[in-house]
Amino acid sequence: MKYRRLGKTDLNVSVVGVGTWQFGGDWGKDFNQAEVDAILTRAKEVGINLIDTAECYGPDHLSESFIGDFLSRDNREDWIIATKFGHHWHKKWSHAWSVDDVRQQLDESLRSLQTDYIDLYQFHSGSDEDFDNDALWTMLDKQVQAGKIRNLGISIGSNQNIYQTEQATERNAKAIQVVYNRLDKAPEEAVFPSCIEQDLGVLARVPLASGFLSGKYKPGVQFSDKVRQRKEQAAVDEQLRRVEQIKQTEVPEDAEMAQWALGWCLQHPAVTCVIPGCKSPEQVEANAAAADLDIVPVDHRSAVVR
Ligand SMILES: NC(=O)c1ccc[n+]([C@@H]2O[C@H](COP(=O)([O-])OP(=O)(O)OC[C@H]3O[C@@H](n4cnc5c(N)ncnc54)[C@H](OP(=O)(O)O)[C@@H]3O)[C@@H](O)[C@H]2O)c1
Repeated sequence: MKYRRLGKTDLNVSVVGVGTWQFGGDWGKDFNQAEVDAILTRAKEVGINLIDTAECYGPDHLSESFIGDFLSRDNREDWIIATKFGHHWHKKWSHAWSVDDVRQQLDESLRSLQTDYIDLYQFHSGSDEDFDNDALWTMLDKQVQAGKIRNLGISIGSNQNIYQTEQATERNAKAIQVVYNRLDKAPEEAVFPSCIEQDLGVLARVPLASGFLSGKYKPGVQFSDKVRQRKEQAAVDEQLRRVEQIKQTEVPEDAEMAQWALGWCLQHPAVTCVIPGCKSPEQVEANAAAADLDIVPVDHRSAVVR
């Protein structure tokens, strides 16, 4: 595994983390504690120290609760826990951006994660209107001073949201989470240059384009999970045709495509780490190996590789 400083924080994150939206049950599989334990145990064995979760991955902080149960039997200090705020999911899912709502979510996240601090607390893809709330950021700063939050971050909803990115430093946020993968390079235009200029850490999310960049799906595929069922079939088929073309023209014959796709993201000088969502210990292990790839993607050849 390789490690990098996450922007201006003092966190040294593994370049491959574990995304845990999957633990909430939206990806066609309900998890139990033993399965989550197996995934996180393997993650630790392969040197991963970063877990990305959220207040609303599953009802009642479900993903965080699985992680918290695991952490209560492991060494909390070995992990960097990134979670998020802005939604409430008890019986039904809703946006919840008021100061009081977010304060309550923070306490519920701490309780679910069975910890007394969060390493990276991220604004969860809210609108610019939700973002422009001085009272919210003041309350969050107080929580940083109180030690409940170590660092603030912003998970931007659209990967071209330069408005929230440019204000990160002013809001005392030190990392941006953004969709970035071989099929969607939009952040390269404005978001990444701003991150480099402000020395912000970058967590590349959806780095496998929801699994499409593993190369295992073909046009016409029918998904059974909620997340991928939401996508329009014509758009899915078009993306999968592009994946096939990329496989033939860019991916070395002996490479495993999912690893290659993660390695591709990691070559951009703005990207600190990738956080692929994982459903099994085998996927964790395969994804971790991307840290050792030394690929120079076709369109990054003139970029400075760090
Ligand atoms: N707004 C936000 O802040 C936001 C939004 C989205 C995601 N996220 C975070 O980012 C993380 C990653 O995004 P994502 O999970 O949506 O998409 P992703 O990482 O691009 O894709 C994850 C899916 O790829 C497949 N996969 C993973 N490793 C694989 C491997 N080695 N070989 C083959 N298939 C593999 C798995 O599904 P199958 O095996 O079923 O194909 C897995 O569910 C999330 O878990 C979450 O933590 C944050």
